[in-house]
Amino acid sequence: MLEDNKALVRRFVHDFQAAGKAEVADELVAAHLTHHSGPAWTRAATVGAEQAGQVMAGLRAAFGDLHAVIHDQIAEGDKVVTRKTFSGTHRGEFSGVAPTGKQVSIDIIDIIRIANGQIAEHWNATDWTGLWQQLQATGPGLAPLPAPGASPRDQVMQMITGYWASQVCGATARLGLADHLAGGPATIPELAAATSADPDGLGRLLRAAATIGLVTEDDSGRFSLTPLGAELTGGQGGGSLREVAIALTAPGHWLPYGQLTGAVVYGEPQATAALGTDLWAYYARHPEEGACFARAMSSISAEASAAVLACWDATRFRRIVDVGGSQGLLLAGLLDAAPSATGVLFDRPEVADGARAALAARGLAGRVEVIGGDFLDRVPPGGDLYVLKSVLHDWDDRRALQILRNVYRAARPGTSLAVIEGPLPSSPSPSWMHLMNLLMLAELNGRERTIEEYASLLSQAGYRLERTIPTTEAGWGYPWTVLEAVRQ
Ligand SMILES: C[S@@+](CC[C@H](N)C(=O)[O-])C[C@H]1O[C@@H](n2cnc3c(N)ncnc32)[C@H](O)[C@@H]1O
Repeated sequence: MLEDNKALVRRFVHDFQAAGKAEVADELVAAHLTHHSGPAWTRAATVGAEQAGQVMAGLRAAFGDLHAVIHDQIAEGDKVVTRKTFSGTHRGEFSGVAPTGKQVSIDIIDIIRIANGQIAEHWNATDWTGLWQQLQATGPGLAPLPAPGASPRDQVMQMITGYWASQVCGATARLGLADHLAGGPATIPELAAATSADPDGLGRLLRAAATIGLVTEDDSGRFSLTPLGAELTGGQGGGSLREVAIALTAPGHWLPYGQLTGAVVYGEPQATAALGTDLWAYYARHPEEGACFARAMSSISAEASAAVLACWDATRFRRIVDVGGSQGLLLAGLLDAAPSATGVLFDRPEVADGARAALAARGLAGRVEVIGGDFLDRVPPGGDLYVLKSVLHDWDDRRALQILRNVYRAARPGTSLAVIEGPLPSSPSPSWMHLMNLLMLAELNGRERTIEEYASLLSQAGYRLERTIPTTEAGWGYPWTVLEAVRQ
């Protein structure tokens, strides 16, 4: 009897609640079912089988591939207690939240009373708060974030296997799968033909991508892009993460970071050990990967520049020299805000060539002089504002001082310098920047610094830090900050 009751509840959960088979309800649910809890019935209410399924129908519409796992069942007398989790992908609107493509799970404990072989009474406690947290969770997670409340073991497993997810993003972007799917749903054979990939390998990649929420698969084997996967398409101007996914999973970044332990033990970057040369020389020898990294920097810079420009007024400057300015995204934003100003973009010669084209495409060819060179040697003179964004963190203190002193030599007294970086917190606290700090060590012999450490470097190079302007709109937890200094 007790086992029969548990089996009846299992059928109810799997066939009716998760799969939505209406005919099962007629068989299993009493005509006068009494509900005692749940969002649609906060007071005890008598409902029929049809109404009993309403909340679940809403969940199935929002979480298309909804499925159930029963963890525990305890039966006593005519009651069965069940602890279960529904999981699915957020593909449809749920209580006003547009589809996020996230994999979510909903934990429920319920008690069901059975009379005459049918479900007669129902109490339930659903962790709606946990579901909301999952739908709204944002943050600097490189790997899929562990579900709230996941066990320590599960959380650490997700961290350990984070690189699986990184390379799934990289391969999805590199093969242009997101772009193909942006045109509409497609099957594995169609995508294999479009990408010249092995159909078996591609199928595995797509299902892994579905598991981390980049795509979804329907019952007919067609894959569709989720909002997460859409971030890997190339069609979003400078803002797409496609190039970031490719550049960060390509050998230049991937191989040195794979030797992180060596970097920590020896206190030295591992680029030469892993690539045979430092990162910048590696990019010069592998121009396609170097160009991809430059485009990735532009994607990140688009977000950072918007945050910086929203908080920092640089319209009083007439000639702005962006040192290590890559494709000139920030410089273009500064010049858009100050239509009578002109600019100089200074970067390695092979990067400068790409920047020239990018700035011309933005109609700035007449206002920006693009100069190729080595900032460890010299920096172009003549600016009333020099900008160093994401440059000093690439270098150790000795080289960073060398760059700052070269800027000092190029500038007149009273000239401004804006160092734009994400500072480390000055007191112990978790920060995305601690992860960046390790990356800088493993790849570049660079380092992240606190505001006090930047102030000290600036002072050693002959600059006085005048003010620091934190941004308020930066993405993925990166605390972009403008450190405005004046040459003494
Ligand atoms: C991390 S990126 C930052 C780019 C840009 N400022 C931004 O925020 O998007 C560092 C830049 O420094 C440039 N760079 C590296 N070594 C250089 C050198 N010796 N001389 C001039 N530029 C250099 C790189 O080409 C790259 O564009």
